[in-house]
Amino acid sequence: MKMINLAIVGATGLVGSTFLKVLEEKNYIKIKNLYLFASQKSAGKIITFRNKNYVVEELNTQNILSKKIDFALFSAGGETSKKYAQIFAKNSCVVIDNSSAFRMEKDVPLIVPQVNPEKLLKHKNIIANPNCSTIQCMAPLKALDNLFELKEVVFSTYQAVSGSGVKGLEDLKRNMREEKSLFYPYQIYENCLPHIGDFLDDGNTIEEMKMINETQKILNKKIRVNATCVRVPISFCHSVSIYAKFKKEIDINLAKNALQNFDGITFLDDTKNCVYPMPIIAKNTDSVYVGRVRKDLFNKHALSMFVVADNIRKGAASNAVEILEKLL
Ligand code: A2P
Repeated sequence: MKMINLAIVGATGLVGSTFLKVLEEKNYIKIKNLYLFASQKSAGKIITFRNKNYVVEELNTQNILSKKIDFALFSAGGETSKKYAQIFAKNSCVVIDNSSAFRMEKDVPLIVPQVNPEKLLKHKNIIANPNCSTIQCMAPLKALDNLFELKEVVFSTYQAVSGSGVKGLEDLKRNMREEKSLFYPYQIYENCLPHIGDFLDDGNTIEEMKMINETQKILNKKIRVNATCVRVPISFCHSVSIYAKFKKEIDINLAKNALQNFDGITFLDDTKNCVYPMPIIAKNTDSVYVGRVRKDLFNKHALSMFVVADNIRKGAASNAVEILEKLL
């Protein structure tokens, strides 16, 4: 693998620091120069990576253009991506962006490496990492689509507070000390909020629309998608209950076999022994855990399953690093 000059934008954040953790583990990715960017308030901070100290720099045009950067992993919010990603891209750098800023743009591939790597062949130096809860649903749906042709899907999510960044984690801790939330509209401890992102006029939330639109783009199908996204009081790992309808009749053994053998999936489906996916299993791993797979009792063309993954790793940082690996 060739040596690369790599920038991390948002290096001090939850996902940014996980980019570094994942890259520490994947030491076969050879980095010649590493540049760490964050906001002005973090400039000068020291971060250790592969036993070497790096100074965090303020993200600004001059600091970007003064360097030769091959790849940039971005996770500093949509506004920062909109302002700076094109500056990197025009300077011959390939940006892998974790925000929602460019995901639905026609020229921007939206990638889950196990599902649609072929879309990486054509890009204009900006590649988007999908929404965290969407990413983990794509491999199981693709495995089943290959066999039975997906027609319709209903997602019900149970999403960890770390999906809101440090602000979400802090609110959960605050509430556990019997203090009020500062970020969420209600307490999250001992509660569930059917409210992730702003509400739109039709009653869906922004998060639900991300799952709907991104699923169609990644699977490259105009299928019907419905989503209800719920924030739950756990720190890490999103869980999703998926109900899917197909053109062909389901053979449940074939379905389970396809899920078991799909790249990136760990199949945990032995209900007699209480084996099924849970956040405590998925935490700190890069796998998508799939279980509770069963046919709809009233529709031979439909099934249900339960899917869990670490939202900061597979749902964000690891998926982006896997995209980088594919590009290399
Ligand atoms: P900083 O720590 O200096 O605020 P999280 O999602 O965990 O809150 O992390 C967000 C990341 O994005 C942090 O690294 C944060 O840096 C960075 N960030 C936020 N705003 C900007 C900005 N305007 N320019 C560069 N980095 C930013």
